[in-house]
Amino acid sequence: MITIVRAHDYNDMSRKVANIISAQIILKPNCVLGLATGSTPIGAYQQLVEWYKKGDLDFSQVSSYNLDEYRGLTGDHPQSYRYFMDTNLFDHVNIDKSKTFVPDGMAEDYEAACAAYDAAVAAAGYPDLQLLGIGNNGHIGFNEPDDHFSRGTHLVDLTESTIEANSRLFDSIDEVPRQAFSMGVQTIMNAKMILVAANGEKKAQAVHDMCFGPITPSCPASILQLHTNTVLVADEEALSKCGELA
Ligand code: PGA
Repeated sequence: MITIVRAHDYNDMSRKVANIISAQIILKPNCVLGLATGSTPIGAYQQLVEWYKKGDLDFSQVSSYNLDEYRGLTGDHPQSYRYFMDTNLFDHVNIDKSKTFVPDGMAEDYEAACAAYDAAVAAAGYPDLQLLGIGNNGHIGFNEPDDHFSRGTHLVDLTESTIEANSRLFDSIDEVPRQAFSMGVQTIMNAKMILVAANGEKKAQAVHDMCFGPITPSCPASILQLHTNTVLVADEEALSKCGELA
């Protein structure tokens, strides 16, 4: 079941997402957060940092697991997702960095590293709250449209549409890694609550298909219809193809 929360614009979406994450941390100070990167959550992370600085939030007991990482980028590479998390959130709040986990983009024995990541998420009891963006093509994490739903953390060949969408953050499209490690759909579905954020008209079709389309791996986000507690916070543009359905 998907609860749809309407936001006016990006700022409103960000505040609402931050409010829900903040409530989770207040309700359960030692919660496990599943975190996401990309343009979408930046505003929510900024809001969380602001509330932390005001003394309203305490991250000291929080642990986190990120969804994905580019293959071949070290954690100090400015386009790596570890670097993104450090600079957008972790460096600005009192989270214990040793309790923040991002798949290792440099793992040589990557199958063992993926299995270890899954084992760690499972041992942590899976996220209390999993934050997700959604790709223009309906991907969640880097689970791209496919003929089956993925299970655990795995190596992914990124689609041309994702490489193209993410190239805006690199100097040239040739620098965008072609592969990534991603938590699987089954792992994502094990989170107790799933919070999807979406803004902008580029996401409108994916948001429609996620909420109202058939449940199919050709739109990985559509499986969230089967989760008992999915919340979508989306702005007017992202909801523009949902008409009066939403
Ligand atoms: P974006 O990416 O937030 O940069 O739009 C979302 C995603 O690809 O999951």
